[in-house]
Amino acid sequence: MNILLTGGAGYIGSHTFVALAAAGFTPMILDDFSNSSADVLARLEALTGTPVLCERGDVADVALVGALIAQHTIAAVVHFAGFKAVGESVAQPLKYYRNNVGGIIALLQAMDAANCRTLVFSSSATVYGDPASVPITEDFARSHTNPYGHGKLVCEDMLAALGTSNKAWRFGVLRYFNPVGAHPSGLIGEDPAGVPNNLMPYVAQVAVGQREFLNVWGNDYATPDGTGVRDYIHVQDLAAGHVAALQALLHGGAGGGSFTVNLGTGKGHSVLEVVRAFEQASGKKVPYRIGPRRAGDVAQCYADASLAARLLGWRATQTLPDMCRDAWRWQSRIHGSPRPAASR
Ligand code: WQD
Repeated sequence: MNILLTGGAGYIGSHTFVALAAAGFTPMILDDFSNSSADVLARLEALTGTPVLCERGDVADVALVGALIAQHTIAAVVHFAGFKAVGESVAQPLKYYRNNVGGIIALLQAMDAANCRTLVFSSSATVYGDPASVPITEDFARSHTNPYGHGKLVCEDMLAALGTSNKAWRFGVLRYFNPVGAHPSGLIGEDPAGVPNNLMPYVAQVAVGQREFLNVWGNDYATPDGTGVRDYIHVQDLAAGHVAALQALLHGGAGGGSFTVNLGTGKGHSVLEVVRAFEQASGKKVPYRIGPRRAGDVAQCYADASLAARLLGWRATQTLPDMCRDAWRWQSRIHGSPRPAASR
C-alpha cells in the first residue's frame, strides 16, 4: 500500500519512512524542504535499500497533492508537514496559523477530491496545556498557551467536524510527547537549525563541545529535583506508533473507526535526569547553569499510554539511556564532519 508522508524528509517523518518500508508499506514523501534537507533522501535509500519517491512541493498546493494521490494510488496520508517551534509561534502567529492550519485544510480538500479519506495526524501533548495532574489521559481537558498549540487543537477539532460530516473519513490523531533520539544506524536524526529550543539536542551539542553549557530553565518547580519533568519518547518508538496507527486504520483495527491516542512512554524524567543520562551515554560532562523559568513551561507533562496499547497494540520500548545513546551516536557523527544537511 502506498502512503504519502507530508513533511516526510523531517525528523519524525524520515524515521517513520524507514519504519513503514520495513513494515511492507510503500511510503513516498512530499516536502518543501523549508525545515529539512534533500540530503536525507540518499540516507533513506541506504536504510531501506530502495529508491525514495519524493516530490518537492507545498502541502497547501491542492492541485499538486491531488495529482500525487491519484498518480500513486495513495491509500493513506501521514501529515507531518508543519512548523513546531513554540517560541517562534508566539512571535509569528500568522506564519503558524497559515502553514499549520491552512496547510491541513488544503491537504484535506485534495484528499477528499481524490477519494483518499484516511489520515494520520501529528498532534502534540501541547494540546493539554498545563495539566491538572499527571499522568495524562486522552480525555483530559485541552487548552493552549501559544499559537503552535492552538493550531494543533484547532486541527484536531477540524478533523472531528469533518468525520462527523462524512463517515468515510478515518483519522488517527497521535499526540506526541517529547520525541528524542535517532535511528540506531546514526544515519538520520534531529539536527535543528540554529540554537536548539529543545532540551535533548541542546544537551547533545554541549556534550560534543559545540556549546559551552546548558541553561536549566528553572529548578523551583514542584517536581522531585525542582526541574521540569517530561515524557521523552524515542523517535523509533514514535515511528512504530505511526505504523501501528496506519495498520489499525487500513485493516479495521481500533474498532474500525477514528481514534486519538497519546504516544509517550508513561514515564517522566527531569531535566537533571536527562543531563545525567546523557553524561553516562556519552562519557562527556554536560556543564549547566540554573536559569530563570522559561515562559510557557509547565512543571510536569507525561502520558498515560495505556489507550494506545489497548487500541493499537503499541507500547514504547526504548529507555532514556537508549535515547541518549542513539542521540549521542548521531550528534558525534554530524559534529565536525562536513555537515550532512541532516533531517530537521
Ligand atoms: C523540555 C524541558 C524545559 C531547553 C516542546 C513543545 C512540544 C514539542 C516538544 C513539538 C523543559 C527544559 C529545555 C533548554 C531546559 N514540540 N529545557 N533548557 O517544552 O516540553 O515541549 O518540544 O511538537 O510541543 O512544547 O520540550 O525540550 O523544549 O523542554 O532546561 O535549553 O527541558 O524547561 O522543562 P517541551 P523542551
